[in-house]
Amino acid sequence: MNKYVIHGGKPLFGEINISGAKNAAVAILPAALLVDGVCRIENIPQISDVSLFFNILDELGAHIRSRNLHAVELNCHSIRSTHPSYEMARRIRASYYLIGALLGRFGEATVAMPGGCNFGVRPIDQHIKGFTAMGAEVSVEGGFIHASAKNKRLKGANIYLDVVSVGATINIMMAAVLADGTTTIENAAKEPHIVDLANFLNSMGANIKGAGTDTIKVYGVERLGGGSYTIIPDQIEAGTYMAAVAATGGRVLIKNIIPKHMDCISAKLVEMGVTVDELDDSLIVSRSTPLVRANVKTMPYPGFPTDMQPQISTVLALAQGTSMVTESVWSNRFRYVDELKRMGAQIQVDGKVAVIEGIDHFVAAPIQACDLRAGAALVIAALAAQGITEVSCVQYIERGYEDLVGKLRSVGADIRVEEIPGDDAELESHIG
Ligand code: EPU
Repeated sequence: MNKYVIHGGKPLFGEINISGAKNAAVAILPAALLVDGVCRIENIPQISDVSLFFNILDELGAHIRSRNLHAVELNCHSIRSTHPSYEMARRIRASYYLIGALLGRFGEATVAMPGGCNFGVRPIDQHIKGFTAMGAEVSVEGGFIHASAKNKRLKGANIYLDVVSVGATINIMMAAVLADGTTTIENAAKEPHIVDLANFLNSMGANIKGAGTDTIKVYGVERLGGGSYTIIPDQIEAGTYMAAVAATGGRVLIKNIIPKHMDCISAKLVEMGVTVDELDDSLIVSRSTPLVRANVKTMPYPGFPTDMQPQISTVLALAQGTSMVTESVWSNRFRYVDELKRMGAQIQVDGKVAVIEGIDHFVAAPIQACDLRAGAALVIAALAAQGITEVSCVQYIERGYEDLVGKLRSVGADIRVEEIPGDDAELESHIG
């Protein structure tokens, strides 16, 4: 296992290129199982969550040909199993997408139940409600979810989600593309990666309308034949680097983004005294004056994303005055606060609310990431801190950020990777 050694206190200047979206990639790769032909996928981020999905697809019998570091050709014509091994599936939470994809294409799936998670209970009752409404029989036995459709084909249905769930919306969409008839998902999630998955499936031959609104209609088709697709840029990766510049000061051009996706994050940073200049497919973020307090409440898209909550809270810890952050998506996403406090942050957490009293600067301390976005937040704190901070458990960060160290170094950060001798704990990847 590695740690990051960060000598903080340096403003960031230069350019950062944003990679393909992690949460789109981990939906699109299993969705390729629905395609009975060759699909070419580009702008795939090089992160460990994506590598895990390639291993699972390989295990199931997919033919995978790398075209370059970020592009592959996938052929799922001769899949030989609908039962990914526990060893593989348990390592990534998004492996539950394999249920929707395998059930949709082959009429059956057996996938390990997703494990626990570091930021609260993560039920999948809405996914199961959707599959059941489409005629699947779903049971949980020995830690596995078994789902099967009568006569191997699901039937279109009307499904109203009781909670706005990204995962359930995606899983039901995947199950529905090859179903007999039309499926309507109401109260659907609207995140950019939902639209991206729908666009991917449509480009392979599906007929999905309304993705990005709260009603999605999936008109079942007989077959997805293949095609080419480019994954959208990662909204949260871009937001994380924006937050880093907000914390350290400086001026950075964030390239290869979709500005519209950044509005919810840019607006909050501007409120905090950060300058954000939008260009066509990039933006410039800069800060030269003190940060100003703000209140933040996480919400489903287009609200402020929960996946940016730890990063924005870290920036607010350096803002003048008292800020309030309300986490309304996950029940336990403030675990990183104890680590920030070790660096001098003044934050009180009461349930879903954190009250933050701004401090002048963080002080370096050894700290440990407890999940992906928490890890990114701690890196931001370390970049802004006085002194040398060591961040451990960085395997969490590498699940979702491509070449974080290289990208930060390219804008002047003093960050390096060091091996922790004798620390070879296995990466458990329940989060994300
Ligand atoms: N929920 C239910 N029942 C369900 C599904 C969800 O009650 O069947 C609840 C959850 O407990 C939660 C809320 O609904 O309170 C939203 O959960 P959602 O299903 O939207 O989350 P997810 O699909 O499991 C994805 C992202 C997360 C991100 C959330 C919210 C992926 C692979 N993961 O998770 O990303 O936090 O949406 O936007 O897309 C990350 O990237 O760091 C990450 C954690």
